Amino acid sequence: MNAVGLANPGIDNFSSEMRIAREAGKPVIGSIFGSTVEEFIYVGRKMEEYGASALELNLSCPHVIGVGSEVGSDPELVEEIIGALKGKVKIPVWAKLSPNVTDILKVAESAALADAFVVINTVRGMAIDIHARCPVLSNVYGGLSGRGIKNVGIRYTYQLYKETGKSIIGVGGIETYEDALEYIMAGASAVEIGTGLYTKGKSIFKEICRGFSSFMDSEGFASIRDMVGVAVQ
Ligand SMILES: Cc1cc2nc3c(=O)[nH]c(=O)nc-3n(C[C@H](O)[C@H](O)[C@H](O)COP(=O)(O)O)c2cc1C
Repeated sequence: MNAVGLANPGIDNFSSEMRIAREAGKPVIGSIFGSTVEEFIYVGRKMEEYGASALELNLSCPHVIGVGSEVGSDPELVEEIIGALKGKVKIPVWAKLSPNVTDILKVAESAALADAFVVINTVRGMAIDIHARCPVLSNVYGGLSGRGIKNVGIRYTYQLYKETGKSIIGVGGIETYEDALEYIMAGASAVEIGTGLYTKGKSIFKEICRGFSSFMDSEGFASIRDMVGVAVQ
């Protein structure tokens, strides 16, 4: 459970963070949030200027007032933000969607201009300290991540891939190569890892890549692309 509250140094101080990230020579995806169309455009253009290869719009953080899922559950605003941003940046724009909505397909429809969907953000939850007799988080509500949400993420990946045909980036509870493969076979073209980095440490990336290689060798898959959506019926 977390309620970090989207703490960050601010976009104007982010160029140095991006410089460090880009030193690895891999594409860097800039994750941004805002409360208005203008804020998304301002921050998105800065991220592009700092060398991001794509923008991931956080339309789904469940525990900060006025941004995240509060923006993401307003279909007209989502459509307006993505439409406006697409006209202002050249890099792909990804919409990170929330599992905390009644109809994700409706939100996906309003985000149809995005180049890909990222699913899922954390699931809204809370915990009680039974000795203090109060919520553990001073924010009361927080976001649940890690193993417990994997099956929710896979379900949304499957549903969105099948119903929209859009490229999907799967995230939620991935700790092993088998977890990542489930997402890929449910329709994800790529995956992200959050909590697994905390529980398993940095070696998680190498371990997952190694697992992929031996699985693909033994099952006769030549590329990850060949496995995308193979479980979709
Ligand atoms: C401590 C923490 C901070 C997070 N901060 C953000 C954030 O700033 N923006 C965002 O879009 N998602 C954020 N997330 C959500 C993760 O990116 C991810 O969608 C979610 O945790 C599910 O993946 P996981 O189970 O691999 O952690 C955060 C998650 C955690 C645990």
